[in-house]
Amino acid sequence: MALPDNVHVIDHPLVQHKLSLMRNKEASTNSFRRLLNELAALMTYEVTRDVGMQEVEVQTPLETMKTRVIDGKKLVFVSILRAGTGILDGMLSVVPGARVGHIGLYRDPKTLMAVEYYFKMPQNMEERDVIVVDPMLATGNSAIAAVERLKELNPKSIKFVCLLTCPEGVAAMHKAHPDVPIYTAAVDRQLNDHGYILPGLGDAGDRMFGTK
Ligand code: URA
Repeated sequence: MALPDNVHVIDHPLVQHKLSLMRNKEASTNSFRRLLNELAALMTYEVTRDVGMQEVEVQTPLETMKTRVIDGKKLVFVSILRAGTGILDGMLSVVPGARVGHIGLYRDPKTLMAVEYYFKMPQNMEERDVIVVDPMLATGNSAIAAVERLKELNPKSIKFVCLLTCPEGVAAMHKAHPDVPIYTAAVDRQLNDHGYILPGLGDAGDRMFGTK
């Protein structure tokens, strides 16, 4: 499948190595969670490549100099509950100043459509760059609904970050929100009839929280 220009597959060896370990069904809850954290931190490097910076003055032991820092407060990481939490923690480990928003969405098991039960964002969203996180972009229903809701608040920009996706997820998201870049570690083969990615890694939420 030819991917749209704004779909970025982060194929750095460290990212791919950790993803392979996570796919293994024998990986414990503990290692799955740790790997997800590490992977998210590594992916943040690429996702924040064009983030805005501001000039500050710093006193080194020898001189005063002008240098640049990220204005973390302008960045909002929006976690789609509950599985977004794993990625969120890893991203916050490298951008600790970022603001955080949460969207609670669950997949109706029959229709696979997203149903919203929680929405809490920082104030002044129109001044902020938003990075939405959810490990699996599968049917795309949750991601599409989350971005739709966020667009009502008119943020400066929106990006979407996942660990894994599939051609169906990319196509659905790109059709609904062609302006939103997608960052992922892999685009897997396909979606199955239950909305799971193949070969995938199973249910990301269950694996990170040990709920199955
Ligand atoms: N959500 C998951 O956790 N895994 C999938 O494969 C698809 C959606």
